[in-house]
Amino acid sequence: MLILGIESSCDDTAAAILQTDQCLLSSLVSSQDTLHQKFGGVVPELASRKHIETITSICKEALHQAQVSLDDIELIAVTQGPGLIGSLLVGFSYAKALSYASNIPFIGVDHMAGHLLSVFLSEHKPPFPFIALIVSGGTTSLFRCDSYTSFSLLGRTRDDAAGEAFDKIAKLMDLGYPGGPHVYKAAANGDSSKYRFPRSWLEEDSLDFSFSGLKTAVMQCYNSSDRSIPTINDICASFQESVIDVLVGKTLLAAKQHSIPTIVLGGGVSANGALRQRMEDVCVERSLSLYAPELSFCTDNGAMIAFAGYHKFLKSGAGMSYDEDVYSRSPLG
Ligand code: KG4
Repeated sequence: MLILGIESSCDDTAAAILQTDQCLLSSLVSSQDTLHQKFGGVVPELASRKHIETITSICKEALHQAQVSLDDIELIAVTQGPGLIGSLLVGFSYAKALSYASNIPFIGVDHMAGHLLSVFLSEHKPPFPFIALIVSGGTTSLFRCDSYTSFSLLGRTRDDAAGEAFDKIAKLMDLGYPGGPHVYKAAANGDSSKYRFPRSWLEEDSLDFSFSGLKTAVMQCYNSSDRSIPTINDICASFQESVIDVLVGKTLLAAKQHSIPTIVLGGGVSANGALRQRMEDVCVERSLSLYAPELSFCTDNGAMIAFAGYHKFLKSGAGMSYDEDVYSRSPLG
């Protein structure tokens, strides 16, 4: 089966062609980073307008690079939510229209399911069940995954997502947008033991997260500092260390609570080299197996939506009704 996957939940327009769940024929992402850079964050109205400009050409280019035509496509999978409603509506309406005009079934996919399954686009695929840590700009959650379509939420952030904290701190220090890669780069030149920022563990045994206190502590530290480059590097390193301690600690706790020895990473923040390295080290220490997507599949992409859509379609046996609508909050958690 040939699947066209479309993603437009936030500020990236993406399309991919996947053959069943095995062979990725093309995957394109059109980033809006330069558009939102001067605002230090995504401007929803600008994002949806840009999606409208890009969606047709990126889908055509995905077909072209895969050397297939629309007539060959047997399923259109598209992100249904969560995300910015205006952005989601562009991809979802486009997919519906294409489906109706071409008589191809379409299926709406939860963006979180895409991130949870993006590791299957890599060569090393995890066995079920596994514990998944999904960390992006919009979410920080822990899941238990028992199959391609069965996910249980174990914990989630009660305030900011980890990626949001990276982005806000980068904005404060004027490091660039999106903030995560800039903070990571600055942290590589800093001393992570210079500042002792808080770790929010919440209640004993809780798998929830909280990053707003950390963000405030970093802001206060920066505002009262000399703001020199070495100081910024040290603040970034100490902040990143605090985030990683909690992400890794809670993931290990989830694995222990559920007696599951397999851990999977997903979402934009999982591109962070320091997080990947620490997770790898603790997994080796504790005889756990770690699976992480290739860097290009950590951030938003159409391939993960095609993959998740294929499995949802296999389970449901049918496409979706045109009455379906987008949603801003994920029913997965
Ligand atoms: O998954 P994603 O592309 O979009 C969402 O669904 O949110 O994730 C984007 C987030 C942004 O907050 C970005 O700053 C963060 O992932 N990010 C990183 C790194 N690369 C991207 N955070 C920390 N370190 C990185 N290397």
